[in-house]
Amino acid sequence: EKRIRVGLVGFGTVGTGVARLICEEGDAIAEKTGVRLELACVVDVDTTTPRPVRLPDGVLTNDIHRLLADESITVGVELVGGTGVARTIQLDMLGAGKDVVTANKALLAEHGAELYRVARRRSRCIAFEASCAGGIPIIAAIRTGLAANNIRAMYGIVNGTCNYILSSMSAKDEEFAAALAQAQQRGFAEADPTLDITGGDSAHKLAILASMAFGYEISLDDIFVRGIDGIAKEDIRYGREMGYCLKLLAIGLKNEQGKVSLRVHPSFIAADCSLARVDGSFNAISIFGSAVGETLYYGRGAGMMPTASAVVADILDVALGNSRTTFEHLRLKPREEVVPLIEDI
Ligand code: HSE
Repeated sequence: EKRIRVGLVGFGTVGTGVARLICEEGDAIAEKTGVRLELACVVDVDTTTPRPVRLPDGVLTNDIHRLLADESITVGVELVGGTGVARTIQLDMLGAGKDVVTANKALLAEHGAELYRVARRRSRCIAFEASCAGGIPIIAAIRTGLAANNIRAMYGIVNGTCNYILSSMSAKDEEFAAALAQAQQRGFAEADPTLDITGGDSAHKLAILASMAFGYEISLDDIFVRGIDGIAKEDIRYGREMGYCLKLLAIGLKNEQGKVSLRVHPSFIAADCSLARVDGSFNAISIFGSAVGETLYYGRGAGMMPTASAVVADILDVALGNSRTTFEHLRLKPREEVVPLIEDI
């Protein structure tokens, strides 16, 4: 049995889920994978608010140096979110010789290229399955499952909050604000839900997915973004009367010349197509590969345990040495060489 000591930074919704999986499912995970995960420390500024998990004594701390200085901790999990302190934390963890696991899509979309370079220079890896589509193993699918394909297109519902809002407005005749409040209450929404409803969170995820699928360094500026703020119940109803369903889609297309079009916007899609049937906080991504044709990935895209599922999968992947190998594949063509198209193709 291989023992892996894990340091967790960020004890919010997802951090709590990760701690629960490690503490409560550790035996089953060890039996299945041969990897025994040990939660060495959990770092958060708030060490007093009760969370629905029982941590081993002495594990919770507000001192990140305990994690950084402990050489027995080989995997650092950053679940703080945002692009400020989280960037420093990831750089510090890499600097201290730890592999990094994160769900932080905003940080990877904005500073991924820098972080990947630092990790590669230090022979470390950054694993980020949880950054896109919560519990759906979409990163693994693109990186390994579809590796033999030239990926030509992806259409995704990648924001659980927006999908929950649109579904509630459509099925329950709910008002926008009430539906958003429920999504926040259920732990789907970002700390600042503006990122969800303006499409920014979907753009972060599209930048990550498209850069892996199409092989370019992608900047957020390459993505046209329009959110669901401003959508009224009537918009949804009129669409439905004509046989369409309104979804916030993240779309990536690549043409024959290798040029890429990236956009996030509300889209009317035929009510009988598979993406139209994705309701609530669920996510789904349809990817077209040259050899395989259409593939569809579906599951819970937000929330405590689905996202924790992806984080722990990454910790195990890193422990087993798989992420390091796939990480080496992530050599992206710089945008200066192949500039993605912003307009339609
Ligand atoms: N706020 C995000 C969402 C969380 O609603 O999808 C998962 O990334």
